[in-house]
Amino acid sequence: MDSGLLAELATLVGGARRITVFTGAGISTAAGIPDFRGPDGLYARVEAEYGLPWPEAIFDIGYFRTRPEPFFRFSRELFAQDVRPTLAHRYLATLEGQGKAIRIVTQNIDMLHEKAGSGDVLACHGSYRTARCLGCGRAYGHDDFAPALVAGTVCRCGCGGVIKPDIVFFGERLPDEFYALLEHPPETDLLLVLGTSLTVQPACLFPLRVLEEWRVPAILVNREPTPYDRAFDHVVHEDIDQVCRELGG
Ligand code: OAD
Repeated sequence: MDSGLLAELATLVGGARRITVFTGAGISTAAGIPDFRGPDGLYARVEAEYGLPWPEAIFDIGYFRTRPEPFFRFSRELFAQDVRPTLAHRYLATLEGQGKAIRIVTQNIDMLHEKAGSGDVLACHGSYRTARCLGCGRAYGHDDFAPALVAGTVCRCGCGGVIKPDIVFFGERLPDEFYALLEHPPETDLLLVLGTSLTVQPACLFPLRVLEEWRVPAILVNREPTPYDRAFDHVVHEDIDQVCRELGG
């Protein structure tokens, strides 16, 4: 990164007591988890590889009800490897350890922010922490269905219904906490957006609402341009870990 820009970003991060962070798949690619829409992303290959009618069908609730196998195959890919937080995940946890209030809203379902030690994380697209049977509604904890995830088989309830991890699929509502944040974005000194194409609504509206409400300095780090680059004061089209390393992570 250009040294002038680096100095400016370091000053902004260093001077902010409260930082609102919005993350997407790009913060986890260094952990070996592919993103969705990048050149090597999941959607570029699953259609052919998993026999899907369209790429996003893998996370479509209507499609899942008729054919859950592709989603569980994807889950096995995710859980078969030992995924660890990236330098950027750890950097955010370190900032919190320094006494800053770091509020993270992530679109990611991989739970790596929590693994890194961040304490205030809203997984607005849900996670594999809990699950529910689509047949009888019975709730399950992660340990109950983790073995089936690792095996890549369809998780089934005693009633015969399919157990669906509490991930927000296309066609489903995001958690209530997300809509509450959208309505009243938390007061903040700085907005940091990392690794998202900012294309999936309503999630991508959150950083825009933060800016509308608080008009604070905003930094976007994403390898590729997004439709909202112009909303940010600083846009860095570089590798997230590299940027965080340069910032002292
Ligand atoms: P996308 O795949 O749409 O965007 C990820 C962005 O990260 C891309 O623009 C990449 O260029 C960038 N990127 C990847 N690796 C990077 C790196 N090391 N450094 C910098 N940038 C990098 O992922 P999201 O925006 O998170 O929904 O996608 C939003 C939602 O779409 C996901 O939450 C998922 C998906 O359908 C659900 O799972 C429900």
